Amino acid sequence: MRMIEMNNALWARLLAMRGRCDLAVGPGCDPALALYGPIATAGEPFVLAQVGQSLDGRVATPTGDARDISGPDGIAHLHRCRALVDAVIVGVGTVKCDDPRLSVRVVEGPDPVRVIVDCRAELSGEERLFDDGGAPVILLQAHDAEHKRYPAEVIRIRRHANGLDPRAIVDVLGQRGLGRILVEGGARTIARFIAGGLVDRLHVAIAPLIIGSGPTGICLPPIDQLSGATRPAASVYNLGSDILFDCNLRSEGEDTSAFAKRDQVRVADHA
Ligand SMILES: NC(=O)c1ccc[n+]([C@@H]2O[C@H](COP(=O)([O-])OP(=O)(O)OC[C@H]3O[C@@H](n4cnc5c(N)ncnc54)[C@H](OP(=O)(O)O)[C@@H]3O)[C@@H](O)[C@H]2O)c1
Repeated sequence: MRMIEMNNALWARLLAMRGRCDLAVGPGCDPALALYGPIATAGEPFVLAQVGQSLDGRVATPTGDARDISGPDGIAHLHRCRALVDAVIVGVGTVKCDDPRLSVRVVEGPDPVRVIVDCRAELSGEERLFDDGGAPVILLQAHDAEHKRYPAEVIRIRRHANGLDPRAIVDVLGQRGLGRILVEGGARTIARFIAGGLVDRLHVAIAPLIIGSGPTGICLPPIDQLSGATRPAASVYNLGSDILFDCNLRSEGEDTSAFAKRDQVRVADHA
């Protein structure tokens, strides 16, 4: 397990690498570069999903309280991820429960465009994020959802049997120059992206608390045998207050060390 020790110079360097897909980094270099470099330099489209959960895998209490699951270093990690992407996606359930701002506050960096999956036009338009002076908000709704007036761009996507196709979501955002995406929750929204094979990286940040009940972070269709489980190549980082599993969903069980060594050279060239 590698320790993340961030400082201002390293963070400024990572922000400067943002969007530089001609660069690539691997797990062999400085831990912070190995963790955040692939997000900053990802080729597009790139989808990162992040879950902050308890030791027993919960992301909220049964009544929806999720605010203090991650410790301060887990929160800083989440804000760094927001700062490195173009857009952050949450489901309508998260907006209704948390009334989140989805901004970058505990580190320096740009705010991502805020994208809400609101298939059935459940939001009223009076939620805080429409009126907080923050980054633009995009609502994704089904083509046949009720037409309401919102102080935000509404993109209508054809409804499929399981709602909005996550691939169509990635495509419409890519057409707007939003190619690097963080899917921040909740569980149902992340599950649809994972099940659709759209997630490149999955970050699971585990905080040392036990909630005992409530929704779990990732819930996929059931399997009978463990041989059917996904076993992604994963690196483990000590954030401080939380432990992070950085899973590469594009390389199941693959040894990426050769890739890492090659890319270390390219990062060193850039430094
Ligand atoms: N700890 C964390 O990291 C974290 C992060 C975010 C949120 N949370 C917590 O998670 C809870 C909310 O999670 P949640 O899973 O209930 O809500 P959610 O994922 O935010 O939103 C779920 C809603 O969005 C819809 N939806 C999502 N993707 C869709 C798609 N592709 N097409 C159509 N509809 C789609 C779902 O439709 P269906 O009804 O058809 O499924 C459902 O109505 C809250 O308690 C929040 O505090 C925790």
